[in-house]
Amino acid sequence: MKKILVTGGTGYIGSHTCVELIKQGYLPIIVDNLSNSKENVVDKIEKITGTRPIFYKVDILDEKGLTKVFEQHDIQAVIHFAGLKAVGESVKVPLKYYNNNITGTVNLLEIMKRFNVKNIIFSSSATVYGDPKEVPIKETAPTGGCTNPYGKTKYFIEEILKDLYVSDPTFNIALLRYFNPVGAHESGLIGENPNGIPNNLMPYITQVAIGIRPYLNVFGNDYDTPDGTGVRDYIHVVDLAVGHICALKKLESVTSGVHIYNLGTGIGYSVLDMVKAFSSVLGRPLPYKIVDRRAGDIAKCWADPTKAEKELGFKARFDLRKMCEDSWNFQQKLDE
Ligand code: NAD
Ligand code: WQD
Repeated sequence: MKKILVTGGTGYIGSHTCVELIKQGYLPIIVDNLSNSKENVVDKIEKITGTRPIFYKVDILDEKGLTKVFEQHDIQAVIHFAGLKAVGESVKVPLKYYNNNITGTVNLLEIMKRFNVKNIIFSSSATVYGDPKEVPIKETAPTGGCTNPYGKTKYFIEEILKDLYVSDPTFNIALLRYFNPVGAHESGLIGENPNGIPNNLMPYITQVAIGIRPYLNVFGNDYDTPDGTGVRDYIHVVDLAVGHICALKKLESVTSGVHIYNLGTGIGYSVLDMVKAFSSVLGRPLPYKIVDRRAGDIAKCWADPTKAEKELGFKARFDLRKMCEDSWNFQQKLDE
């Protein structure tokens, strides 16, 4: 079995990707410091797939700990999810974000180089496009106009990986720019369960639906969009996970390079579209209030997904209803 090192593998996107890796015959070697996930996710991945991934509670900043993992396994490729991702928190504690995300990545890359592991898939984000001049966004659009430290870490890491490739053209790198991941595995065993007040729309919606919060705050209805609320490209997390398998196969089929792909559906939905779709799944209206805009938000952001379709054979399969159904199923199972 080919072993794939999955940093951040017990997290939201990482856990779903481990499921797809196992389904495709790979063995995930998870490295996670559990700062934003729980070890029992490993049991859940095993329950879904029948195979237990190998798990190490190791921080990617821990050079010795990470080196041991590389010593113990013949790693074919690394899928690098580990990182902190709360935009608002990153403004308050930027050094924590720069250290964890950037220093952690540099540490990982040094060790990969030492062990001659040259295939890496990096979790980038549509946030690297900043406030896009045009939608849908193509991979050739300018990057770097990020307004918060979190977004900057994604942009800087992309640049670091490009520089690494220039210095060592045997590296084989995929930069995957995710749009807005939502949904959960249909078993309801794994999904996104943020600590504290959710920053992102879908977990906030499911917490309103289950009664943890009274209503959704809709951040502004005066944007230049059809109904005035922000428009985003929501993608089911299982589709996103499959996108990583497609990227891994691509890396297996070429010798080296820096390959950049948007992972989105190409469809933009507004906040009110999301409320409507979720209410329909819920069978009752979801309470919401229009409030002021949230600082740093952009009006619209959706992908041109054609490059990933042409070059990776990747196309998102799940529609908005399925995204809402699976998010809701996961939220309900959390309380059981
Ligand atoms: P997540 O927080 O659920 O998963 C990240 C995992 O990394 C967690 O399990 C956490 O414990 C672990 N981790 C963090 N720092 C670590 C460290 N120093 N050492 C070891 N493990 C560490 O987040 P997610 O939503 O699954 O996101 C995965 C990746 O995708 C992140 O890099 C994130 O920035 C990126 N991304 C996420 C989104 C999104 O909206 N969820 C969008 C674009 C990009
Ligand atoms: C979506 C829409 C909000 C919450 C963020 C990061 C980005 C990426 C994905 C990692 C917007 C509106 C939200 C709420 C609302 N992460 N909203 N009420 O802002 O597109 O992207 O997560 O890389 O970097 O910035 O996602 O889910 O926070 O917001 O009205 O309580 O929902 O204004 O229009 P966003 P989101």
